[in-house]
Amino acid sequence: MLRPPRDMPRRRNFGAPAGRVALLHALAHIELNAIDLAWDLVARFGDSGLPREFFDDWLGVAAEEAEHFALLASRLEVLGSAYGALPAHDGLWESASATAHDLIARLAIVPLVLEARGLDVTPEMMLRLERADDPESAAILARIYRDEIGHVAVGWRWFDRLCRARGLDPEAAFHDRVGRYFKGVLKPPFNSEARDQTGLPAACYEKLVVAQKSLHPNPPSLAVEGGTHAVRRGRVGA
Ligand SMILES: [Fe+2]
Ligand SMILES: [Fe+2]
Repeated sequence: MLRPPRDMPRRRNFGAPAGRVALLHALAHIELNAIDLAWDLVARFGDSGLPREFFDDWLGVAAEEAEHFALLASRLEVLGSAYGALPAHDGLWESASATAHDLIARLAIVPLVLEARGLDVTPEMMLRLERADDPESAAILARIYRDEIGHVAVGWRWFDRLCRARGLDPEAAFHDRVGRYFKGVLKPPFNSEARDQTGLPAACYEKLVVAQKSLHPNPPSLAVEGGTHAVRRGRVGA
């Protein structure tokens, strides 16, 4: 069942099995969307005269997203649940719909804002799972975290390359597309250790926080929070 992001229950208590199931379920939903999003890049933008390497890269991402989903779905079953047992929300796919006409915008929002947000929040979730004596779930998140650094790197590589091919300044184009198509705010602190490995320049997102602060001095409910791919409009991540 899909519900509006604001109607989703909050997942706070990892000490209780139900809290961990809710977290893993939300992450599985994100990974399932991530499979579709990687294929959507291939299918929707596939006739744009892009090189073979573009398709190879996104097929590699799609395959890893499928592994992430499978790992989480199996873990849910070990914990006595299953994917589909809880409601989920459609925030991630909505972000994709908003950028269906513009590859540069899609790359800015999906890998470089939402998946990058996942890098910020995943280490804390891993720690909390370890503390809740659930090293198996923590190990799955660790695997996802490593792969997602690669996904953001692929996103930046193609964003940068396509901007330059079109005569656009990558940093300016990033600011422009995020400003137009991302309805949330970028929420520090950023995981610079992981982000630096992706090639995404800090100036891209750090300047945006400053710019957004002056636009939204009291950011309302749209701050990003969550995990691997960043979810809910307003609570991206997980
Ligand atoms: Fe993933
Ligand atoms: Fe990913």
